[in-house]
Amino acid sequence: MGHFVIVGILVVVMAVLTYFGLDATGLATQMHPVAASAQAAPIDQLWHWEVMVISFLFALIVVPIGYSLTVFRQKKGEMLDGEHMEGNASLEIAWTVVPLIIVVIFAYFGAYSLGEVRRVDANAMIINVTGQQFSWTFEYPEYGFVTTELYLPVDRQVVLKMQSNDVIHSFWVPEFRVKQDVVPGRITEYRITPTLEGSYKVRCAELCGTSHAYMESPVVVVDSAAYDAWVVEQVKIAEESKTPEGQGKLLATKNGCIGCHSVDGAAMTGPTWFGLYGSEVKLADGSTVTADDAFIAQSILEPTVTVVEGYPPVMPPYVLTDEEISNLIAYIKTLK
Ligand code: CUA
Repeated sequence: MGHFVIVGILVVVMAVLTYFGLDATGLATQMHPVAASAQAAPIDQLWHWEVMVISFLFALIVVPIGYSLTVFRQKKGEMLDGEHMEGNASLEIAWTVVPLIIVVIFAYFGAYSLGEVRRVDANAMIINVTGQQFSWTFEYPEYGFVTTELYLPVDRQVVLKMQSNDVIHSFWVPEFRVKQDVVPGRITEYRITPTLEGSYKVRCAELCGTSHAYMESPVVVVDSAAYDAWVVEQVKIAEESKTPEGQGKLLATKNGCIGCHSVDGAAMTGPTWFGLYGSEVKLADGSTVTADDAFIAQSILEPTVTVVEGYPPVMPPYVLTDEEISNLIAYIKTLK
């Protein structure tokens, strides 16, 4: 009986030392990123309890092994077999019932935490998220715009309705703790209540291809006034991009036109677009033309036919539809 008492005391001492040792290295709690959502609290709490149980289980295994190796080792000249034992009902009951109780308690804590994490707020705001190799886009159906940054108001629950255009991705903001797969062919939900203003990042947590590591987008949590101002700005941008000029501006950015043509008169590789429309343009062959629709269209489709004086004929031809060209022209007309 004396051995059991000694081992029992050693197990408790070892468990406490292990727990404080883990805590001191920061493995138990401090290594978490800052908790920035209401859902983080029950998850962190559960993790904390698990570290305690892990410390105890570690002690429960290591101490009896160490004790047996030390105390019951074969003495010098001792040649007999060890004492033969068959069964120990109380020990067997104990090592069945105690773990069962621990597992049941943790099942309860786990279910309780899951309930807390998924708690539905009827006022939750819906945002549609699309994951695709290798980017995230966020649609705010309430306002009808789409962004590549996830802006969230603090202290208001949001439900992300997530879908994938290609393979399985996983939406993960470490500061929010919750992680959710994004699966093609179905919509998965991610419910979060940001509680701390700041800038975070959503990372993809499912290996999804060569640029998986770069599949991240900014997540910004702001107060409600800043959020409303951001919404107004996004609505304005969305409205503007619906007009031909807006479409043309988007196209100029997307196709890289503005990498060579300035929109403010600055000197770049190609002629500036500022004040271009309707102006008289001197060509390399000495003639002069008016920069009208036909001239601009030809300069896009066959850029080496009419070259502006003083610029090298280096622009590649662009294949654009008539509508895209007229949108670009509409945008160029606004630059004066
Ligand atoms: Cu998407 Cu990894």
